[in-house]
Amino acid sequence: MKFFVDTAEIEPIRELAATGLLDGVTTNPSLIAKSGRDFIEVTKEICAIVDGPVSAEVVALDHETMMKEAEILRKIADNVCIKVPLTVDGLKTCKALTGDGTMVNVTLCFSANQALLAAKAGATFISPFVGRHDDNGFDGIDLIEDIRLIYDNYDFATEILVASVRHTNHVLQAARIGADVMTAPPAVIHALFKHVLTDKGIEGFLADWAKTGQSIL
Ligand code: E4P
Repeated sequence: MKFFVDTAEIEPIRELAATGLLDGVTTNPSLIAKSGRDFIEVTKEICAIVDGPVSAEVVALDHETMMKEAEILRKIADNVCIKVPLTVDGLKTCKALTGDGTMVNVTLCFSANQALLAAKAGATFISPFVGRHDDNGFDGIDLIEDIRLIYDNYDFATEILVASVRHTNHVLQAARIGADVMTAPPAVIHALFKHVLTDKGIEGFLADWAKTGQSIL
């Protein structure tokens, strides 16, 4: 499973990129607002840090203006992936852009039927929001299961990008289902490394090593 980080903050992106485990970045208008940075400038900086897809979202609601915004965004770098909402105009834009060889991430997906439409529109990625789905009394992981089944039934190439990930269990469940990608805030990705027994084990080994009086270097 590919790991994307869901942020527009440069330092956490740099830190995760240095692990060699980061495959891409997703941003959205709220994350850009939170960063306080200029959209184009910060996207350019992120694209230079990470080789994989960097999602940059259009804000227009009509196809024609979405295309104009996408034109500006895709010039930022070769690894920009245009993010469009799951609407009629969004999918029209998706079809036009992917037909042209541009990567497209269709966002704000909350049903398997919506995911089916996005795949038919040639989306590179579909972003079902598991956390927000859970918050509204649905089961986000059930949604991923349905989309996996449907995409496999028809051999769709669209990658399932599990979004709105809130905790490490979302990552585990998404991986069990065989989601292609997950995007999570930096804190959730860092939490994946942690286990209380790993920390305890290191502590014990170091204590015993100190007793030997030896050093490797
Ligand atoms: C995905 O691309 C979105 O940016 C993101 O995952 C939304 O997550 P949220 O529900 O935590 O805002």
